[in-house]
Amino acid sequence: MEDAVHQDQHITAQTTALPNTNPALTEPQPLGAFPDGFLFGGATAANQFEGAWNEDGKGPSLQDVLPAGGLHPRTAEPTEDNLKLEGIDFYHRYREDIALLAEMGFKVFRFSIAWSRIFPRGDEETPNEAGLAFYDRVLDELEKHGMEPLITLSHYETPLHLVEQYNGWTSRELIGFYERYARTVLARYGKRVKYWLTFNEINSMLHLPFMSGGINTPADQLSDADLYQAMHHELVASARATAAARELAPGAQIGCMILAMPTYPLTPDPADVLAAMQAEQANFAFGDVHVRGAYPGYFLRALREKGVELNITEQDREDLKNTVDFVSFSYYMSTCATGDPARGERGEGNILGGVANPTLPASEWGWQIDPTGLHVVLNQYWDRWQKPLFIVENGLGARDELVEVNGELTVEDDYRIDYLRQHLHAVREAIEDGVNVLGYTTWGCIDMISASTAQMSKRYGFIYVDRNDDGTGTLARYRKKSFHWYREVIASNGAKL
Ligand code: BG6
Repeated sequence: MEDAVHQDQHITAQTTALPNTNPALTEPQPLGAFPDGFLFGGATAANQFEGAWNEDGKGPSLQDVLPAGGLHPRTAEPTEDNLKLEGIDFYHRYREDIALLAEMGFKVFRFSIAWSRIFPRGDEETPNEAGLAFYDRVLDELEKHGMEPLITLSHYETPLHLVEQYNGWTSRELIGFYERYARTVLARYGKRVKYWLTFNEINSMLHLPFMSGGINTPADQLSDADLYQAMHHELVASARATAAARELAPGAQIGCMILAMPTYPLTPDPADVLAAMQAEQANFAFGDVHVRGAYPGYFLRALREKGVELNITEQDREDLKNTVDFVSFSYYMSTCATGDPARGERGEGNILGGVANPTLPASEWGWQIDPTGLHVVLNQYWDRWQKPLFIVENGLGARDELVEVNGELTVEDDYRIDYLRQHLHAVREAIEDGVNVLGYTTWGCIDMISASTAQMSKRYGFIYVDRNDDGTGTLARYRKKSFHWYREVIASNGAKL
């Protein structure tokens, strides 16, 4: 216990009070409970919390060579300093962890299947039965607690062999490998899993080609032609998974998953408004393809201007017509754009980033905090696509301090409660506007390794996990103050925020 307190050497989170520029949110008007059946829960990804990176036949994924996170270069081989190799050991502790989530009353639990647990190299004909059996056991536990599973098929964890041998998604062959994997898991779990996502934050491929697209060519040597072709392959693969689900899991609902980042004009200058619109279109394009089944004109123009001619076959065009049932997205922050490069400073951000907004506060990692942006993006997406929406990631990465209160170790994370309360209020506002929202899963509901920086100290959870950036720690779990708060939120179906 002593160790747990002292080993995590960090300061108390500085984001204790989050200023909010929206007067409507400063004193939230009670809007009442969320609609019946609203899916409150939390989200995770295999590579960030399972650990057991080479157990029971699992092959390495590209995450195993990213010890410093997706923003930093890969290593040749998996190295011991990579915290993801052990993660938070969910692979061996899933029963205990799912029971804790159930104690909060989770209605839904989002997790990803590690592709390389099922197909260790990615290009085999036959799956690894031990890998499949693990997710059977996870689903058994969820069923036992009455929790709806929400599965991401690919969450930044392409098998490493596909990276080394095929240069990741630049190769058309990956469409077939992914389809085989998707068919295998849809056939196995399709009867017990209703909600599926094809690729995590599919638009991030254009920004992080290695982590998102498994592309080994260094980003500064990668041609636009190869990058956009890789994007096209993923979009076709996503549509093929949707088609496979229609066949193998008829009751399933398939969603795309987009990294949402509403972009505001930095000033009222029309050049800034145009720049903001174009930045948004670069993300909208991914939803447009998934919902409308074809590339939008503005995107084709952007490709023409880059001199990129995609290789799109007739079969690809047919495949893309397999459109999704719902649109899911992550939301952490908004950003700004300007038509004048001399204006504004570039801000820190979640993969995409842009010009910093001078009116907004930021987290300790520089991600600007904007609950109103969630209200905005829910309306934008609903107006544009008229498909049910699912917020599958949202949350505050902060340094937590484990303290003793009434004889129990906990974290007094009022800063996290404030953040989540304000964002949930924004969701409730959008629902009041008539937006159809299926559910809300907070990111990293149990502390895990960060994707961008591979730190343990960037924590999002309701449950504190005793592990430190240097790899030490007992892996013991502790309920934070936000754990008790979220349980109340769920028990009141959002009436008590
Ligand atoms: C999203 C990813 O971009 O952001 C998650 O889907 C990630 O995998 C989350 O963990 C938060 O980012 P980070 O870098 O703080 O872990």
